[in-house]
Amino acid sequence: MSAGAPVALITGAAGGLGTGMCEALLKRDWRVLAHVRNVEQGRQLAAAGAHVLAADLSSRTQVRSLISHVRRTTARIDVLVNNAALGYGAPDITRQVTEDGIESRLAVNVLAPLALMEGLKGLLGNGSRVLNMASTNQELVDVDDLQLIRCWNREASYRQSKALMLVLTQVFAERWKPLNVAVNAIHPGTRLPTKIVLESGVEPMGSLERGIEICVDQLLQSDPGKAMFVRAGELPVRLDELYPVTEEGEALVAKLKDLLA
Ligand SMILES: NC(=O)c1ccc[n+]([C@@H]2O[C@H](COP(=O)([O-])OP(=O)(O)OC[C@H]3O[C@@H](n4cnc5c(N)ncnc54)[C@H](OP(=O)(O)O)[C@@H]3O)[C@@H](O)[C@H]2O)c1
Repeated sequence: MSAGAPVALITGAAGGLGTGMCEALLKRDWRVLAHVRNVEQGRQLAAAGAHVLAADLSSRTQVRSLISHVRRTTARIDVLVNNAALGYGAPDITRQVTEDGIESRLAVNVLAPLALMEGLKGLLGNGSRVLNMASTNQELVDVDDLQLIRCWNREASYRQSKALMLVLTQVFAERWKPLNVAVNAIHPGTRLPTKIVLESGVEPMGSLERGIEICVDQLLQSDPGKAMFVRAGELPVRLDELYPVTEEGEALVAKLKDLLA
């Protein structure tokens, strides 16, 4: 790896799409910071040349430590992939809250990426890209009940978290336009055979390899501008044309930030 190699930080790199993206970038001689929940999960990636960082993203304290660790490790991030997420979970799962009292999908899938984007802003510069893993399986369930206290079910909590990722994508793309930092969202495919799909009890379909390829293609693009939503098998579309949320988006992000305090 050369001293000027581009740097990627990929969360949730212990398996599935995250491992695939890390491996593809390592093969291209990138410097890869691979985030995993615990160090054991990162052994293979470390052996392949990745710098492994461990943190449980459901914990605000551990997310803050991860941000400090990244800042000590690199002065620049060319690509940040907010990939880690909880899926539906097992069919009999019930509502869970983190040690900080936050509904767990909201904490891991939304608040951790928000904290990472805010905390790592200084490392993202001209030409950097952020890729937020989203889904076409998304729906804002109740913006006055982001923790879904009134109507929690596993599908609603996942769908809401993915809708919020589209909101974050638009808001940060707009904020960071002057810095020439691109922020995009991606739906890598439907029910790809990864841990979150297998544990949920739904029948997997589609090709994980193809999903990884779609993500890696995006990481290698150099086309900052409007926030785009890249959906497997379809042409990318502008998020503000598909789900225009720019005005209320800032208000929603402010609400989310309150939950990080
Ligand atoms: N597979 C699909 O069909 C599909 C479709 C649309 C979007 N996506 C999105 O693609 C992304 C990657 O998912 P995947 O399909 O590749 O599934 P995956 O292999 O299960 O990846 C999810 C990763 O997130 C990590 N994670 C979950 N909770 C965490 C926590 N509290 N702290 C740290 N890490 C945590 C998991 O680590 P552990 O192994 O330790 O739990 C795992 O490595 C997700 O954002 C998902 O929503 C996937």
